[in-house]
Amino acid sequence: MYNLLKGKRGIITGALDQNSIAWKVAEKAHEQGAKFVLTNAPIAMRMGQINELAEKTGSEIIPADATNVDDIANLYEKAQEVLGGKIDFVLHSIGMSVNIRKKISYTESNYDYFMKGIDVSAMSLHKMLSVAKKMDVINEGGSVVALTYMAAQRTYPFYTDMADIKAMLESIARSFGYHYGVEKKVRINTVSQSPTKTTAGTGIKGFDAFYDYADSIAPLGNADAESCADYCITLFSDLTRMVTMQNLFHDGGYSSTGVSAEVMEKFSTEE
Ligand SMILES: NC(=O)c1ccc[n+]([C@@H]2O[C@H](COP(=O)([O-])OP(=O)(O)OC[C@H]3O[C@@H](n4cnc5c(N)ncnc54)[C@H](O)[C@@H]3O)[C@@H](O)[C@H]2O)c1
Repeated sequence: MYNLLKGKRGIITGALDQNSIAWKVAEKAHEQGAKFVLTNAPIAMRMGQINELAEKTGSEIIPADATNVDDIANLYEKAQEVLGGKIDFVLHSIGMSVNIRKKISYTESNYDYFMKGIDVSAMSLHKMLSVAKKMDVINEGGSVVALTYMAAQRTYPFYTDMADIKAMLESIARSFGYHYGVEKKVRINTVSQSPTKTTAGTGIKGFDAFYDYADSIAPLGNADAESCADYCITLFSDLTRMVTMQNLFHDGGYSSTGVSAEVMEKFSTEE
């Protein structure tokens, strides 16, 4: 028990069910002494099990569609009321591509769906940061973390439009990180996570095969949702107070490995 987040107040988006990365972050933040509110899109609340998590972590739920600035403003206002002051950390754990859902290939992308994906999965970070800055809801030294995937740097054909959307998300974290850092010392980072078996993850075509491939490349194997949550907690804590505008790989070493002996063996014709 470290109490790394003792006395801190937070907002955690994106906990849909027990597999969600955000669900694990909420559990760990609770363990580390934080107080926080949970939020998700109203539709997801009807489908998910967020009430169970709220009960377990003693937190309130404030519905908000992250593409709607009025919802976001209401979220911040209510969160400050419920938690009794300004916010110290925010988790952005929101991703959705209609093109992926409808199994439309990258080159055939539907542009209305593409725009929707950008709004939900990348612009929502800008909106959450912009409203927070205007309302001055984040304490000095506060930390914002958004989750991303390495398809922003290298091509993974099945990740379709989400690759471009994640590149935008990472860029927003850097660009906003500059301005919010100068003005309020608020830090903004993205965590680039291994393939993880969640609703968003497993919705991707060929996910299982790719999950195994990544696992056989990464020296430490794929990072699971729980270890991702641990990493997020360190980023919310004061121990990382000088880390900002970074895209941080949390992937068991996958992103730095060209090929593994295990994969080589599968292709080897030598006796
Ligand atoms: N699962 C993976 O393999 C993987 C890998 C790297 C990064 N990520 C990222 O992690 C984040 C969390 O995804 P997850 O894997 O835990 O899946 P998940 O499906 O459990 O979480 C996605 C969440 O986004 C929420 N959401 C969708 N539209 C929204 C809106 N308009 N407003 C507010 N919330 C909305 C959903 O309700 C859901 O709770 C996403 O950004 C995802 O891209 C996932």
